[in-house]
Order: sequence, then structure tokens, then C-alpha cells
Amino acid sequence: MTAPSAQPGTIITQPPPPAANRESRIAAHSHIKGLGLADDGTAMESSQGFVGQRNAREALGLHLALLRQGRHSGRPLLLVGPPGTGKTALAVALSQELGSKVPFCAVVGSEVFSGEVKKTEVLGSCFRRAIGLRIKETKEVYEGEVTELTPSEAENPLSGYGKTISHVIVGLKTVKGTKQLRLDPSVYEAIQKERVVVGDVIYIEANTGAVKRVGRSDAYATEYDLEAEEYVPLPKGDVHKRKELVQDVTLHDLDMANARPQGGQDIMSVMGQLVKGGRTEVTDKLRREINKVVDKYIEQGVAELVPGVLFIDEVHMLDMECFTYLNRALESPLSPYVVFASNRGICTIRGTEFDGSFSAGIRSPHGIPVDLLDRCMIVKTEPYSRDEVRSVVDTRTRVEGIAVTPEALDRLADEGEKSSLRYALQLLTPASILAKTAGRTDVGVSDIDELGSLFLDTKRSTNVLKDLDANTKVY
Ligand SMILES: Nc1ncnc2c1ncn2[C@@H]1O[C@H](COP(=O)(O)OP(=O)(O)OP(=O)(O)O)[C@@H](O)[C@H]1O
Ligand SMILES: [Mg+2]
Repeated sequence: MTAPSAQPGTIITQPPPPAANRESRIAAHSHIKGLGLADDGTAMESSQGFVGQRNAREALGLHLALLRQGRHSGRPLLLVGPPGTGKTALAVALSQELGSKVPFCAVVGSEVFSGEVKKTEVLGSCFRRAIGLRIKETKEVYEGEVTELTPSEAENPLSGYGKTISHVIVGLKTVKGTKQLRLDPSVYEAIQKERVVVGDVIYIEANTGAVKRVGRSDAYATEYDLEAEEYVPLPKGDVHKRKELVQDVTLHDLDMANARPQGGQDIMSVMGQLVKGGRTEVTDKLRREINKVVDKYIEQGVAELVPGVLFIDEVHMLDMECFTYLNRALESPLSPYVVFASNRGICTIRGTEFDGSFSAGIRSPHGIPVDLLDRCMIVKTEPYSRDEVRSVVDTRTRVEGIAVTPEALDRLADEGEKSSLRYALQLLTPASILAKTAGRTDVGVSDIDELGSLFLDTKRSTNVLKDLDANTKVY
């Protein structure tokens, strides 16, 4: 058994370990569980955390159906509407409807601008993050419950002190039999990375040495009702066998796995990784090569393409260069389903401000050039009524575990109608702290009133500035 290595002509299909997740900004939307559509595609007034906004939800439902049939081809969706009307929430709901097997990549327009990497390069990698590949491979594996895990140490030949691992003995057990394997130290590293202990069910790929922990053997199952651990039965058949493995990877995973310096044990490549950080530039040549292999896999029926969703929020932040790139990328056969969102009206397209005679720049709806706009299906979100605001706030209190009296809820709904839904939602947590400090369990009207004197909403803040002396403009 050897350490993972890339042979010429093949690509690595083992996805790298999950990177730092990009989902933290979704916390504001944790009450959204889906689009809340009935079986016939009509939006229910309030379902799966979503309230109102029925036209937009139904439009997204229709697009979801197209996506499931694989018939979206190059038709991006554009969500437009005033701030706080649920555009980002709609995209989150869409990702939830698609499930975890379909890739979903969310970026904000401004993420594209980096000092080190080209804008189009960032966009390109986002596109590849949103295209999945389901690879079915029959591989030779050693699978079983770990009965023994003994690393054996040896003198380090390079320094007088310290020891190195010379090999590791792993015992694997299945229903049919047991086997003891003597493995290379690099496999031991992989075992440690997966945090394997005795009693876990694992498989080791015979030709790459990659280790995957399947779960804990159910012989060790405990009586707890709720546990993070996943228990699996003892594998059947022999320890050494051929097994069909299904892997969901994105094209971006493949790019990264093949772009990273291989081996990575000696000091030079470790340093290289530190210096380059996570953002290695993947060359076009590498991508073309990967595409070729992917095409071959698809032709042979080994792999299946799973187009996912790329969500670009605040799309008006992109500039002309990005838009022209998007026009082309959308027309490629390997394109994911793209959803844009913007809360701007008619504004200047970035990157056209100093364009010859157009000193004020080219103005266009949502800051998007008309040619791209023409390709989009546009969905509008509407401002909320008082009842809808009340209903959203009510849902949110349940998610955050805050008790609110009905009068206070009415008050929050008034605030929301007067300024914005966001403002009403933002008052919730501070109000609960005020109530707790005063020794009450429920948030009351007095808490909301007190907050009104502590925090300004947009309208009052603007009025404060307007009332200031026009010349001094000092607080
Ligand atoms: N119809 C709805 N049902 C339930 N919650 C909603 C609904 N609309 C918005 N929300 C919640 O209100 C908050 C603000 O909405 P969101 O962030 O989606 O607005 P947005 O349209 O993206 O605004 P912006 O243009 O400022 O980005 C979020 O916490 C969101 O989950
Ligand atoms: Mg938003």
C-alpha cells in the first residue's frame, strides 16, 4: 500500500477535507427551512419559516422544477426588491430545497475583489464550486471494525532523539472474518486525521491508502437518546473486497486537490503551503485537463454531473469586467444555475465611471448591463404588511427561544411597518436582555419602548442629520 500519489493521466477524485465553512452569515436566516410550497406549487401563507412574498416563492418553485429536470440552461434568475424584503432568505430557502447533495455556492459581489487573485479567476472558481460530480467507483478496499490499532515506533535515523513511526498494525473485523494489516506510516497519518479509534468501522482504499471513517460499530451503541455519533452495523463479506463507493465532489474540489503540491511531507512543500495559503491559483490548463477527464468519466457512465446553484448577492458590486465574463460563463454547457440579488434601482455600472466621454458612467437598472439583464428572469420582492412583519417576528421568537407578550409583538410589528422588518428583528435579542435584567421572563411593551430611546432606526437617524445645522453638520 502506498501513500496517495497522482499518476500521470489520472486525476485525484478524493475531495480535500472540508475547508472553513462559509455559512456563518446564514445565522440570520436560520428560521428558513424551505420555500414552503404546497404540492401543486402554490405558496402557503406561512410555511417552513417563510411568510408572505408568495409570488416570488412560487416563481422560485417553478425554477426549482426546471432545475430538477435539468432544463435551466443559461437562464439566470435575478431577485430585486427593497432592502430587508427576503431576497437572501429566498436564496437560502432554495438551497435548503435542493438538499445537501446538490452544491450551493453563495458569494457576495464584493468578495470578487482581491489584491492577489484576478476577479474573473474568483468568479470562475465560484462557478466550479457550484457544479457537482457524483462519481461511482468500484474500488479495492479493506473494510471492517477496528479491533487493534498499534503504531510501532523505531529509532529516528536522522536525529538521535525522538522516535518515528515505522509501521502500524491495524486489525479489521467483519461478519465473515478478521484480518491484520501492516500499514505504511502515511496511512497512520490518515487514520489519525479521521480520528479513528478501536471500535470504529472504517475502510482503507487499497491503492491510494485513503482512510474513511464510516461510523461507530453498533456493538458499542449506548442507551442515550440523543447522540452525535452515527452507529453502523458490522460490515458483511471479507475484509479485503471490491466495493462501490459514491462520492459527491465539486469541480472546484477536483481543481484544488490536483493543484496542491503533492506529498507534502518535506519542509519545502509545507512552507509552500503556508505561503500560498488557501488561494492557490488554478491554471486554465489544469481546468481543461480536469474537464477532459470529467467528460471521459461521464461518457463511461462512471460519473454523473450534478449542476448546483451559484448565488451572487449584491450583484451591483460587480464591475464591467465581471459582467462580460458572466455573459460567457453562463453560456457554457458546464454552467450551474445562477441566482443574482440586488436592492439597487437605477445606478451606475461599476467600472464604467471613467469611460471616455461617459464621465458619469453608464447607468442601468440594478447596476447590471442591459445585455446581461436581458438574459435574466427577474423576480420582484414586495415590502411587507404589518401582519406579515408580526408573523415573521413571531417565527423568529420561537427560533431564538424568546418569550414575548402579544402586546409587545404588536408593538414590534408597528415598528417593523414604520421602519423595516430588519429593524424589528434586530430589536428582539436586546429586548430579551432588558427583560431578563428586569427579572421578567417575557419581553413586554416597556422593553421595546426603552430600546426605541437607545437605538435609532434608519428614518430617525436620517431625521437627526436633517435637523442639524445645515452648515456645521456636527453632532
Ligand atoms: N418572507 C419572510 N419570511 C420569514 N423571514 C423573512 C422573510 N423575509 C425576510 N425574512 C427575514 O428578514 C431578514 C431580512 O431579510 P433578507 O436578509 O433576506 O433581506 P434582503 O432582501 O436580502 O435585504 P438586502 O437587500 O438588504 O440584502 C432575514 O433575517 C430574513 O430571514
Ligand atoms: Mg440580502
